[in-house]
Amino acid sequence: MRVTIRPPRPEDLQPYAEAVRRSAEHIGRWNPVEPEGLVELLERQGAGLRTYLIEDVETGGLVGKCNVANIVMGRFCNAALGYDSYLPYAGTGRMTEGMRLVVDRCFAPEHRGGLGLHRLEINVQPDNDRSIALAKRLGFRHEGFTPRMLFLGGAWRDHERFALTAEEWPGPAEA
Ligand SMILES: CC(C)(COP(=O)(O)OP(=O)(O)OC[C@H]1O[C@@H](n2cnc3c(N)ncnc32)[C@H](O)[C@@H]1OP(=O)(O)O)[C@@H](O)C(=O)NCCC(=O)NCCS
Repeated sequence: MRVTIRPPRPEDLQPYAEAVRRSAEHIGRWNPVEPEGLVELLERQGAGLRTYLIEDVETGGLVGKCNVANIVMGRFCNAALGYDSYLPYAGTGRMTEGMRLVVDRCFAPEHRGGLGLHRLEINVQPDNDRSIALAKRLGFRHEGFTPRMLFLGGAWRDHERFALTAEEWPGPAEA
């Protein structure tokens, strides 16, 4: 594996801000560009939200970030994934490797350090080709179309909905 995943910590604030700033052009069309956004994310970590940073093993550089958001347990055991990749690692396949580790972590049982989830969703704007390609590479199924789903860039945006259940996941990426 070229990458590892881990939760964010206060020492990440500066490298995170730099990574987001240098990637602003490629993130900005789809997600808000918030170089200082990790401050709030660190405060919000808890039962409903887990963030993972994807780190390059060789350099320690920040490859990307994935929020496992809207976590609902009980009979649902469901969450939504939101992610960005950062330069200079974007487009090198590392984000996909990191996302496989995140999905592993989401589906692993809690007694093995996982989140014990059963279903994951990825919601993507219809013309976000790179994100749709990533969802498909991970094996997510296209489930449907959700009109005016998220308020992004000053408007309510339509999204394509992709999903994956634990039964469909082939197993740990490291295996
Ligand atoms: C969506 C996003 C996270 C995808 O990340 P990424 O950096 O393209 O992910 P990867 O590098 O893993 O993508 C693999 C690409 O690298 C290429 N690649 C290059 N070297 C590779 C290697 N050694 N192994 C695998 N893939 C490699 C692949 O061919 C693939 O390109 P393709 O999709 O054109 O076929 C990123 O584009 C992004 O941050 N977008 C802006 C924010 C955003 O849209 N977030 C999602 C909102 S729903």
